[in-house]
Amino acid sequence: MKTLITGGTVVGPLGAVPTDVLVDGETIAALYAPGVASTGGVVADKVVDATGKYVVPGGVDVHTHMKLPFGGTFASDDFESGTRAAAWGGTTTIIDFAVQRTGEVVQDGLAAWHALADGNCAIDYGFHMIMGGVDDEALKAMDYLVEHEGITSFKLFMAYPGVFYSDDGQILRAMQKASDNGALIMMHAENGIAIDVLAAQAVARGDTDPVFHGITRPSALEGEATHRATVLAQVAGNTPLYFVHMSASEALAHVSAARGAGRNVFAETCPQYLYLTLEDQLGAPGFEGAKWVASPPLRPRDEPHRDDLWRGLRTDDLAVVSTDHCPFCFKDQKELGRGDFTKIPNGIGTVEHRMDLVYQGVATGRLSLERWVETCSTTPARMFGLYPKKGVIAPGSDADIVIYDPNATTTISAATHHMNLDHSAWEGFEIAGKVDTVFSRGTAVVAGGAFHGRAGHGQYLRRGLTQYLR
Ligand code: URP
Ligand code: ZN
Ligand code: ZN
Repeated sequence: MKTLITGGTVVGPLGAVPTDVLVDGETIAALYAPGVASTGGVVADKVVDATGKYVVPGGVDVHTHMKLPFGGTFASDDFESGTRAAAWGGTTTIIDFAVQRTGEVVQDGLAAWHALADGNCAIDYGFHMIMGGVDDEALKAMDYLVEHEGITSFKLFMAYPGVFYSDDGQILRAMQKASDNGALIMMHAENGIAIDVLAAQAVARGDTDPVFHGITRPSALEGEATHRATVLAQVAGNTPLYFVHMSASEALAHVSAARGAGRNVFAETCPQYLYLTLEDQLGAPGFEGAKWVASPPLRPRDEPHRDDLWRGLRTDDLAVVSTDHCPFCFKDQKELGRGDFTKIPNGIGTVEHRMDLVYQGVATGRLSLERWVETCSTTPARMFGLYPKKGVIAPGSDADIVIYDPNATTTISAATHHMNLDHSAWEGFEIAGKVDTVFSRGTAVVAGGAFHGRAGHGQYLRRGLTQYLR
C-alpha cells in the first residue's frame, strides 16, 4: 500500500520545507519537491492532502509509566489505553519504565513489563529499566539488558527512600557499570532523605493539604541532588547522565554548568513544569490540588523556574520534553491521601497532550517550529538509540508521521480526552493547533477525528546505545 502525503510542510530540526512524502508499506519511501511526484508519474493507492499543515515525525515520549505501582495503587492507564491516548495526541513511540522492585530480580521485573505490554500497544514502544535495588546481581543484569534486551537506559532515584531510592554508593556503582557498557543513567534528582524529614514535620504540624507536597520538596533540594549526581557521574568515569522531569532553575543551572564544561549531561522537562504552578494548581482549594501532586512538584509562580525551563529548551540545555505520564484517578486513587499529602500517589497524566502543549511554545513565540520537532521527536529518538528508525521524516525511516493543523484549535477536557483518567490536569486549556492525522508505521491510526488503530499493532523496540554523545 502506497500513500502520498501532498501539499504539506515537512518540519525537522534543520528547517521547514514544503515537501511531498511517499509512504510505502511501513516506511517512508521518498520525499519530493511539491508537485514532482504527481507530474513524475508516482502512483499511490491513496493521496492525503496536507495543504496548509505541518508534516512532522511522530512524537517520541521517552517517559511514561503505564500501570506503575505507586503508593498502594497502580497508574490508571494500561498499555492499551495509554498508547491509544498517545496516538490521539500525535505520539507514535513511547519508552515506558519497566520496574525492578527492591528485592526483585531485574529480569523478572522486565518480564512482568513485557507481559503488560505485549499485544496491547497501539504504537511502538520500548523500555527503560528502573533499578529499585542496585546490588551485584542487578549490576550484572544491566550488562545483560544492554546486550540482549535492547534496554540501554536505567533510572535511579535519589528520592522515595524505602521505595525506589538508591544511596550514593549504589548510584556510583551503577554509573561505573554504565560507563563500561555504554548505557545512559537516568536520574530522578531530589534529595529524598531531606524531603522525608520536611514532610514528616509538616504532617506532625497538621499541614496535610496537597500544597504541602510542594512546600516540603523545595527546588534547592532538586538543585542539590542534581549537582551531586553530576559529581558522582564524573567520578564514575564521565558516565553519560540524563536528568528526568527537571523542574527547577537551580537544577538546570547545574546541568548548564556541566554542559558548559563539555560533559555528556542532558536533561528533559515536562509540560507541567512549563505551565503549571504551586499556587494555581497544587494549591487549589480543599483537596483539589491532589490532581497535581507529582514529584518533583510544581514550583512557585513568582520564582523563575518556568522562564528558565523555556530558555533551557531553546539553548538545548534541556534536550527533550517528555510527559512523565503517570495518571491516577481522583476518585479512590488520589483520594488515598485525603488528610495526609504524603499518601497521595504521585503523578500527572499528559501522554495525549505533549505535542499540543509544546506547540503552544511555537504559537506564542517562545520556541521555534524546529525546536518543537527536535525536543519532542528527533532528540528523544537519538538520545535513546532509536534514530533514524524514529524521529525523522526521511527515506527508510518508519512512516510514523503526524499531520498537524496550525489553524485549528481545541480545548483539553476530561470529557473528551482518551486517557483512562477521571480528570484532566489541563482542563480548559485552549490549544492553538490540532493533531489532524497520525500514521504509525504507515497505518493511519488517527484520521478524520476517529481512531483506526488497534491494540497489538505496536511493536517492541530494541534500542541501541545513545546517539547523542558529544
Ligand atoms: O510523580 C511522579 N513523577 N510519578 C512517577 C514516578 C517518577 O518519579 O517519575
Ligand atoms: Zn522520577
Ligand atoms: Zn516518571
